[in-house]
Amino acid sequence: MELTPTIFNIFMKPFEKKALHKRRSELISQVHGNVLEIGAGTGVNFNYYRNEKISELTIVDIKFNNIIKNHSLNKSIDINFIEGNAEKLPFEDNTFDSVVSTLIYCSVDNPDIVLSEVFRVLKPGGRVYFIEHVLPEQVHYRKLLNTLNGAWKMIGKCNVNRETLKLIEKANFKVVDFEMFGKACFIFIKGIGVK
Ligand SMILES: C[S@@+](CC[C@H](N)C(=O)[O-])C[C@H]1O[C@@H](n2cnc3c(N)ncnc32)[C@H](O)[C@@H]1O
Repeated sequence: MELTPTIFNIFMKPFEKKALHKRRSELISQVHGNVLEIGAGTGVNFNYYRNEKISELTIVDIKFNNIIKNHSLNKSIDINFIEGNAEKLPFEDNTFDSVVSTLIYCSVDNPDIVLSEVFRVLKPGGRVYFIEHVLPEQVHYRKLLNTLNGAWKMIGKCNVNRETLKLIEKANFKVVDFEMFGKACFIFIKGIGVK
């Protein structure tokens, strides 16, 4: 069983309205140059890109759904859609100025492999822009989410107990901008890491 993109959008609506819209806007408006977005989903970040800052936009996802395909893209950005696994990105080393990933490291099978690929394809000094939901710090919520993870992973194809900030730092990114937000079990991180 898996959440369809439409159900995912409905499920995420309250989070988007309350917290994510603002953070996406703050983060994605800074993205520039030759840009890669991995796990773009329904294309929820597309409206936040500043066209004038972007020379080229490449999107990689395991599978493109109809929502992203029909998304009213701003045609002034040159967009390359590539179906593939972010664990093996089909690009040369040092290709991109910016890599965007939002709510993806909870979904991928091997976040450490994806992060090493992202590091590889970023130019030196390039930036990774991320928003993720992560395991809270409070012990009781950690216990609860660690217990629920097996079941939730089957329903949502998503892990609710990942510690993505640690993974980003372990992948050698220097985190230069960081915010943690949300409540109780629903804790998110937003930030920028530099290669
Ligand atoms: C939870 S959705 C997030 C969508 C969107 N980025 C957002 O902020 O709402 C995760 C996305 O990652 C994609 N995905 C999962 N594993 C992937 C992988 N190994 N490589 C590329 N995309 C992947 C899924 O197909 C899905 O579109």
